[in-house]
Amino acid sequence: MQTIKDILSARLRDAFAAAFPGANLAALPLDATPAGDEAFGDYQCNAAMAAAKLLRQPPRAIAEQAVAQLVADGLLAKVDIAGPGFINLTLTDEALAHHLEALQADERLGVPQPGTGKTIILDYSSPNVAKPMHVAHIRSTVIGDALKRINRALGYTVLGDNHLGDWGTQFGILIMGYRHFLDPAALAASPVDELQRVYVLSHQKCDEDTAWKDQARAELVKLQAGEPENLDLWQTFIDLSLAEFNRLYERLGVTFELTRGESFYNNALPGVIERLTALHLVRKSEGALVAFLDDEKLPPCIVRKSDGGYNYATTDLATVFSREAEFQPDAIIYVTDERQQLHFRQFFAVAKKAGVQTHLRHIWFGLMRLPEGLLSTRSGTAIKLDLLLDEAEKRALELVQASSPDMPAEEQNSVARAVGIGAVKYADLSQNPQSAITFTWEKALAMDGNSAPYLQYAVARIASVLDKHRERFPAADIQAAPLVFDSPFARRLGLRLARYPDAVVDAATQEKPSLLADTLYDLSQAYSSFYQNVPFLKAEAGLRESRVRLCALTAHILRHGLSLLGIDTPERI
Ligand code: ARG
Repeated sequence: MQTIKDILSARLRDAFAAAFPGANLAALPLDATPAGDEAFGDYQCNAAMAAAKLLRQPPRAIAEQAVAQLVADGLLAKVDIAGPGFINLTLTDEALAHHLEALQADERLGVPQPGTGKTIILDYSSPNVAKPMHVAHIRSTVIGDALKRINRALGYTVLGDNHLGDWGTQFGILIMGYRHFLDPAALAASPVDELQRVYVLSHQKCDEDTAWKDQARAELVKLQAGEPENLDLWQTFIDLSLAEFNRLYERLGVTFELTRGESFYNNALPGVIERLTALHLVRKSEGALVAFLDDEKLPPCIVRKSDGGYNYATTDLATVFSREAEFQPDAIIYVTDERQQLHFRQFFAVAKKAGVQTHLRHIWFGLMRLPEGLLSTRSGTAIKLDLLLDEAEKRALELVQASSPDMPAEEQNSVARAVGIGAVKYADLSQNPQSAITFTWEKALAMDGNSAPYLQYAVARIASVLDKHRERFPAADIQAAPLVFDSPFARRLGLRLARYPDAVVDAATQEKPSLLADTLYDLSQAYSSFYQNVPFLKAEAGLRESRVRLCALTAHILRHGLSLLGIDTPERI
């Protein structure tokens, strides 16, 4: 089904086309957007201002001519022109009610399906073997997973691919460290930490001792040549790391369709060089092989080092060639921190020159600052996600014990898991990905602010309203009750509910799960004033069912929206 925004935008487009035949209106912002100030209307359109230059008329006159052509029939109760030429649109209550009724009956809650038949590959999380997950990988994991769920809701086939850093020069150094410094007890207790420790020691020794460094290089060459002993060790590093990563993914409820690390593409690297060479895209420069990107105003991209080794960019080129050939995706989306922007711009440019048709997108995010002490390792950059989640669950359990002292302990624990993990995820997802954010427990677990627990509580409270209603009026069929907007609180809530499908679309097209989070928060606030100002169970028959039906739809949408952010909603809290 169409969204409200699409329906209104189509009417506006038709009206402008009828008012200004022959003019090329393609570049105008003819979309309806939710009104900035609800005193003026439900939706607005600012195209008249943008059209002034093109049509050589004052914006207000443009707005008047367009509005004269606007078909209102049943959909619009009021159309106003304000200020210099804002067009303000107010829906009829009937249109809003019918739209919400259709949305409630739709199993997709009115979310359109622009992605039907299209495939997206989403490259996210992608931590490095033998290193504890960096906070950047955590954000990538949570944001990537939400984008996967959001795009799936829009009908896309989405393949999540965990592009592990599991190949490269670090493995020679790690093999040396493992052979000389390993503490087996520490390895058993915390494998990735121990691998990281022996790697750091070996790396230091490389700087001090050339014989050590040469030996590390020799071990790498043996590994690359497939020497069984080193290959076994390398496989051990991967298995140990993946076991730890998978434990975290399980706690977070994150899955991948593919886990193809850099090593998967190792044999394809010489082919990348051949392809680029055949297309005359690379030149020798000081022994290295380089793609020059002067036209793109980017620094040159080294695809083979002077020692014959390949680079991060080479692997990413091999990966994109392979993904394009195997899956014919419509888009590949990479989610990493902001420090990799140049890398992606360079390798996208080379890929395009090499004939890649797939739409390539890099979604980058700012870093997240985490609470001091608890989370920083000695290096200060990597964090123990496990500890963060433990702490979140512990604090959530205190909340749940306070709010539901009579709940069985087992249920309290499982609710605390949903609330604690949800709080950590939401603290990340509710922020604009591109801003640097500071995580605080107060904010993540705030019961009266923009947090997962706040939204989860809202859902649980509505569930109890619905239970009470069922108990008191077992024969009532709320789905059959027509929606009535007899109070401004009900109408405001209705408008927020109708915005939901557009928020899902916006979150995907603007690649910002935060837009969905904002809409859910806004919705829960509209619900909260509805709840506080309008009686439900004590209302007269008819109105009562309509109001309870709005409650049910609110809970349904909050649940659906939170599930797209990867956040569970317990029945009770
Ligand atoms: N392993 C990389 C890192 O930790 C991230 C990989 C992102 N994906 C990619 N295709 N380059 O920085």
